Amino acid sequence: MGRQESVDFLIIGSGVAGLRAAIELAPHGDVLVVTKDIPSESSTEYAQGGIAVALSDEDEVGIHYEDTLKAGDGLCREDAVRILVEEGPESILELISWGAEFDKECSRLAFTLEAAHSRKRILHAHGDATGKELERVLLQKVRSFPSVGRSPFTMAVDLIVQDGGCIGAYVLRDRKISPVFARATILASGGGGQIFSITTNPQVATADGMAIAYRAGAELEDMEFVQFHPTGLYLPSAPHFLLSEAMRGEGGRLRNINREPFMQRYHPMAELAPRNVVASAIISEMFITKSSHVYLDLTHLDAGFVKKRFPRIYSTCLKYEVDITKDLIPVSPAAHYMMGGVKTDTGGGTSIKGLFAAGEVACTGVHGGNRLASNSLLEGLVYGKRAGSSALSSVRGMGRPPEAEAMPPAFTFHSIPAHDEIRGQMRKLMWEKVGIIRCKDSLTAAKEKLGEWQYILDKTFATRRELELKNMLQTAALITEAALLREGSVGAHYRTDFPGRGENWQRHIAMIKGR
Ligand code: FAD
Ligand code: SIN
Repeated sequence: MGRQESVDFLIIGSGVAGLRAAIELAPHGDVLVVTKDIPSESSTEYAQGGIAVALSDEDEVGIHYEDTLKAGDGLCREDAVRILVEEGPESILELISWGAEFDKECSRLAFTLEAAHSRKRILHAHGDATGKELERVLLQKVRSFPSVGRSPFTMAVDLIVQDGGCIGAYVLRDRKISPVFARATILASGGGGQIFSITTNPQVATADGMAIAYRAGAELEDMEFVQFHPTGLYLPSAPHFLLSEAMRGEGGRLRNINREPFMQRYHPMAELAPRNVVASAIISEMFITKSSHVYLDLTHLDAGFVKKRFPRIYSTCLKYEVDITKDLIPVSPAAHYMMGGVKTDTGGGTSIKGLFAAGEVACTGVHGGNRLASNSLLEGLVYGKRAGSSALSSVRGMGRPPEAEAMPPAFTFHSIPAHDEIRGQMRKLMWEKVGIIRCKDSLTAAKEKLGEWQYILDKTFATRRELELKNMLQTAALITEAALLREGSVGAHYRTDFPGRGENWQRHIAMIKGR
């Protein structure tokens, strides 16, 4: 057993949502931000294209609202979307006042276009390193508060729930599990792209927060909606590095293996059609041409512009001997973002008292069945702040957490022989059977195979890799179950056996342990 701690506010995760929540809470008590790797390691750090916000002269929050609803395909929560677009501009101006440097054109903020946006509204930083700039500014701001403690390489294992309320979490540090008691806890642990073998997501994105919340009895929602990004770098020797949608926003074209442009045949918005449409069109072209990839072509754009606009992508591709100013770039879709997650109200409150959630781990309902590009960084800022503020209100008049009564259980650690093999098999299974194109047979096969690893779900482990596997298996089972239950095709969820929307398609699928 490790040391026992007690704080006012515990925040799990140090991406945009967790850091923004910490800043909100810092003046009001002691805050501890635990994160399972170095503080900056997160999806936020790798975000490229930018952050959507209705701040340009040609834009209006009402148009951003409409575009978000349209992308969400009828399943967005309208009040949550309204909050996102209305509070977005203020949160960006606040970020700029803290030192964020977004790219400019002639001393004015430069806005770019991405798929399914009807206006140029994406702010970006250092060309294609927007997330890194956000993470830099937010970490710097957090470090300026002595009241905020930071605990890297500390993995939340489970929530501590007593009398139906969350009073903190058990964390793994130095191979020991210990309790951190808190008056309010905020889950900001990001998404779970690593559940799929082909993903743009970093190693930390193993859906821990969703599994942890589910085990604690919280309600999860919309788990079937996984967004697949159309363009990950496809090279056998390289990771599936993201090739930002902004490359198509700046005029990049998709070509099949025979070098023919094809998007016009699939959608009037061609390369800038919604993400699920572009991803499915690519899969279809790959199938027709019996190829493992298509190409993204920027060769007709000015080389100097491309290098300046996409410096990180240019240098990364060059490492793999692809010069994006001269060569066609081999691309294929990759798992990218989870629209579903821990259900919250518009203040980040979950179904468990004392537990709040924000960012990709949460399902506020702003993304519906399909997220509008570059809306998630904005969601992290707006809803991270809101979750912080709700957590603060929830503890007014409350004493310290009842730590003495919550004696930590005696943990028995297990180990999983060949856990990395199971991890690989599960990721491949999820990609092949629960990926972009699904049907009852593929989903049932996945459910059966996942069932064989069920024995892992109720055990405790002393290593991060094994705990991550347990969390990924749990979340994979929830995604598969929800995908089976949704007998229709909506947003990013596509079933060949139910190509129409299906009956009662506007319902949200809720998942609660034991129900
Ligand atoms: P994250 O930024 O992922 O942070 C999660 C944090 O939780 C990390 O610190 C992680 O280490 C920690 N953590 C996880 N599990 C645990 C645990 N058990 N215990 C302790 N800590 C834990 N969105 C946009 O809007 N615009 C973009 O341009 C864009 N580009 C993207 C590019 C890439 C390559 C990727 C992968 C995503 C992109 N997205 C983009 C999506 C966006 O980056 C994420 O949705 C968003 O950053 C999520 O923020 P978050 O704070 O919820 O989670
Ligand atoms: C991208 O740059 O294409 C990613 C944008 C996003 O996921 O919102």
